[in-house]
Amino acid sequence: MSSPLVIVGAGGVGREIVELVSAINRYHGHAHELRGVVDDSLSPANARRLAAAGVPFLGRIADLPGREAVACNFVVGIANPQVRRTLSGIMIDKGHSPVVLVHPDATLGRSVHLEPGAVICAGARLTANILVGEHVNVHVNATVGHDSRLGAYASLYPQAAVSGDCRIGASATVGASATVLQGLSVGTQAFVGAGAVVVRDVPDRLVVKGVPAR
Ligand SMILES: CC(C)(COP(=O)(O)OP(=O)(O)OC[C@H]1O[C@@H](n2cnc3c(N)ncnc32)[C@H](O)[C@@H]1OP(=O)(O)O)[C@@H](O)C(=O)NCCC(=O)NCCS
Repeated sequence: MSSPLVIVGAGGVGREIVELVSAINRYHGHAHELRGVVDDSLSPANARRLAAAGVPFLGRIADLPGREAVACNFVVGIANPQVRRTLSGIMIDKGHSPVVLVHPDATLGRSVHLEPGAVICAGARLTANILVGEHVNVHVNATVGHDSRLGAYASLYPQAAVSGDCRIGASATVGASATVLQGLSVGTQAFVGAGAVVVRDVPDRLVVKGVPAR
């Protein structure tokens, strides 16, 4: 058994990761001891939802003991890439270690490399020679084609389709059911709207939407 696992974030993404951990434990025989969830701004609704799921709330990140008390593994379950970056930095400074979580119903080719903190959700399909950066979130049913690179803290929302040989920049987001055509780049911190079809490179920090995406 490895170190206890803490999830940062009690919102929708954090609680989806609770379910992902539960699925891993059912499939792989209690691989992770889920200690609980930390959240700096827990809403009453999310408090109720966590309690209903039987998951302990551990307080704010500042309340979590550092490595000297107990070394934890962690992932950050928060959609916003900048927030994910900030909070993972705080957890690492406290001496905790980001881990990779892959749902048992995801498929990854043998040449898919996952950096620490990456979370791959149910139904995701990643094929050949793909680099998934630190703390990337690949949500349910998203697909990534051969030779693509997902920069640190990037997010692929449900059903996003990243074609072969694409570059998704650090902290970029590809919205639900959006498609990035083969060989294209989505810049750092860029945002591709839900359902968009990206037909040319997206510059850094730009929001694009529609078909074709503009
Ligand atoms: C593209 C996006 C970032 C724009 O957000 P925004 O700037 O707050 O946009 P607004 O809601 O103010 O809408 C602005 C205009 O864009 C349109 N629009 C918004 N999202 C759109 C989309 N995905 N595709 C096409 N048009 C869109 C709106 O209809 C509105 O049009 P109007 O000015 O003619 O009325 C956002 O709508 C989006 O798609 N986010 C991704 C959501 C997602 O994938 N969620 C999954 C979570 S699991």
